[in-house]
Amino acid sequence: MAIDEAKLEQFMGKVVTEMGAGLGMALHRLGDELGIWKAMAGAGPLTPAEVAERTGCHERYIREWLAAEATGGYVEYDAGTGTFTLSDEVAFAMADEDSPVFVGGSFQVAASIWDSLPKLRRAFTTGDGVAWADHSHDLFEGVERFFRPGYNANLLPAWLPALDGVVDKLERGARVADVGCGHGASTIIMAQAFPNSTFTGFDAHDASILAARKRAADAGVADRVTFEVARAQDYPGTGYDLVCIFDALHDMGDPDNAAGHIRATLADDGTWLLVEPQCAGSLEASLPNPVARVFYASSVLICLPASLADEGRRGLGNQVADTDWQAILGEAGFTRVRRATETPFNRVFEVRP
Ligand SMILES: C[S@@+](CC[C@H](N)C(=O)[O-])C[C@H]1O[C@@H](n2cnc3c(N)ncnc32)[C@H](O)[C@@H]1O
Repeated sequence: MAIDEAKLEQFMGKVVTEMGAGLGMALHRLGDELGIWKAMAGAGPLTPAEVAERTGCHERYIREWLAAEATGGYVEYDAGTGTFTLSDEVAFAMADEDSPVFVGGSFQVAASIWDSLPKLRRAFTTGDGVAWADHSHDLFEGVERFFRPGYNANLLPAWLPALDGVVDKLERGARVADVGCGHGASTIIMAQAFPNSTFTGFDAHDASILAARKRAADAGVADRVTFEVARAQDYPGTGYDLVCIFDALHDMGDPDNAAGHIRATLADDGTWLLVEPQCAGSLEASLPNPVARVFYASSVLICLPASLADEGRRGLGNQVADTDWQAILGEAGFTRVRRATETPFNRVFEVRP
């Protein structure tokens, strides 16, 4: 081995930084679960005893947690007064579930991955999958909490208006299917905005459908939203004006038949809103890129194994190039596919017969 000392030193520096970041994910998740971020938001400088009192936690643990978060730059420490402050910017991202940059769900998703490692280890050697339903509850709720801020920020102001004529139809009264709806975050946001329309959320995962029904009741939209356990390739109903799939098509074992079923159940003048993770089109075009890194990691840990556990076992992963989607959608009978809009994290396709 011919070790380049400078290169080694640079790499070890990166690894140490990431050791702290990896352990930090667990710290952040504890802060999320125990309400520490929320207790510190907007409170100004607090002693560990004050944070402990606000959260009902033990002071000694809180003091160590604060020290760890201070070394990571998440809280600010004033040695003179022995107090810790959560800045408004960090609070916006860590404590405010309604902010467009809330990231608490990502730490919950990460916790679910550690729970699933033994299953993933087995899948790597057998080639079998790990079904969506075989992960822990933290994945289902974490995904909901991680994705909802993006839907809140983009769905009504940007994504639906980017589709030809869809907002008008929704305002007049349209029939909408949200397929692979999970806990129904996207379905409920649309239902709140368009009281003349009716919405059905479908998901193959029964526990997610139960959670979605509860969310709809809590949001006061149960009169216009129903949630049903059903698969994308054979959910009931026809003549939908709008079918949506938010970040779920690539997870499916049989996206080809799902696309075919959407074609069959969509009105001839209907629209399919397909939201997929951002993708540069190839691995080489994604190097190096922190967003692509998150996507490839979640692909191998969550999306690919979910698809390989599902009937069809297509195994697309979440980095599917536009050209590959166009081929799948064309094969299913769709003639017009365009990227209607995008964000740094999402591609938004308008798909029409
Ligand atoms: C990454 S989650 C996205 C959930 C939701 N759309 C959201 O944005 O919060 C993927 C969802 O697809 C669902 N799913 C996977 N394969 C499916 C299939 N064949 N039919 C219906 N739902 C499916 C999973 O159960 C899961 O809820």
